[in-house]
Amino acid sequence: MIGRDTLARDLDRARQRTLALTDFDDAELHRQYNPLMSPLVWDLAHIGQQEELWLLRDGDPHRPGMLPANIEGLYDAFVHSRASRVDLPLLSPAQSRAYCRSVRAAALEVLDTLPDRDDDAEVAFRFGLVISHENQHDETMLQALNLRSGAPILAQRSALPAGRPGVAGTSVLVAGGPFVLGVDAQDEPLSLDNERPAHVVDVPAFRIGRVPVTNAEWRQFVDDGGYLQQRWWSPRGWEHRVQADLSAPEFWNRDGSRTRFGHVEEIPGDEPVQHVSFFEAEAYAAWAGARLPTEIEWEKAAAWDHAASVRRRYPWGPDEPSARLANLGGEALRPAPVGAYPAGASACGAEQMLGDVWEWTTSPLRPWPGFTPMIYQRYSEPFFDGDFHVLRGGSWAVAADTLRPSFRNWDHPIRRQIFSGVRLAWDV
Ligand code: AVJ
Ligand code: FE
Repeated sequence: MIGRDTLARDLDRARQRTLALTDFDDAELHRQYNPLMSPLVWDLAHIGQQEELWLLRDGDPHRPGMLPANIEGLYDAFVHSRASRVDLPLLSPAQSRAYCRSVRAAALEVLDTLPDRDDDAEVAFRFGLVISHENQHDETMLQALNLRSGAPILAQRSALPAGRPGVAGTSVLVAGGPFVLGVDAQDEPLSLDNERPAHVVDVPAFRIGRVPVTNAEWRQFVDDGGYLQQRWWSPRGWEHRVQADLSAPEFWNRDGSRTRFGHVEEIPGDEPVQHVSFFEAEAYAAWAGARLPTEIEWEKAAAWDHAASVRRRYPWGPDEPSARLANLGGEALRPAPVGAYPAGASACGAEQMLGDVWEWTTSPLRPWPGFTPMIYQRYSEPFFDGDFHVLRGGSWAVAADTLRPSFRNWDHPIRRQIFSGVRLAWDV
């Protein structure tokens, strides 16, 4: 069982992040930085609306809530596209904050009764779901803020460790054989529906990048004409490359600098490349004489201890993530240089599997065998048959308390405003 104190702490941590990311004036919060993203004020009230739905209304939107039904409907992500949200009669920032506060006060009262109930595990799970949901929207808001034009309004709030020379471009062997893919509720009570159930999968030996692909490596691909040579690209990828006129990762400027949260700066060569689409990742891998991993390979490299024949809770072992082990939590506003976390290596020697950048995989999002939807039925299921590729490992913007090696993210193969990068794989 997850303790009440842990849930209360993680709820509060998520809320502190949300408030820090929305601590701007009303005009700012109503701005649409890019049609791919919602105005921040939408995310803010949507976070409260989801918390109220899952914790106070048993997931039933027909139960009376704190908002009039027509207002609540504005925060249904399936009804209103991101591009259209700026034109909705949304709650003001003050109203949104007050609503979130009221919901949170009532949710904490529910949490107080938790140890006395016999459905503890399910109630704890719902709290975990709400914490994860809020943290995921915090990352979404960071994506929006990164697209914002104008002088920076966010500053880096934590320092990062230095990298190590000699690790970029190297790889480690992942031994062949069966391993346990996914997790069960008894081991990971807060795991989401698409991570379950645990099941054995046989994976032939392969090699995987010790660290993600760096900006310096990507620069070579650009300089070698990689964006102009169709032979590295899939047919769909090439069509998109031409139509979108891609010639470098998003946020790389023509003068060789990059723009990150409004800061124009030199591109650090030893930092994992960010803001590439699946199609670009695939082309880079072909150019490099490699391929992308499947998500199953990725999870084996992250979690499986071949010598002991056990699954580790985290790549490095049982300890909770910390600043010594991984770059998570969103305060750095950037990935750490490769080689920065030797203590965070997985059993096979892969580093920076959690944190820094989301890593594209070849796998379309599909359910594991035995998939059962959770109370938030539309979290995963509507996306199973869509045009989505799975990303693994979490970025620097992901909250440590909601990330696991089994965590699955997904997006369209053309998207690159997300904090996405690449780790290569090779057949052996
Ligand atoms: C799992 C990140 C793809 O942002 O669309 C937030 C998470 N789901 N609210 C998304 C989510 C509902 C989801 N991703
Ligand atoms: Fe949501």
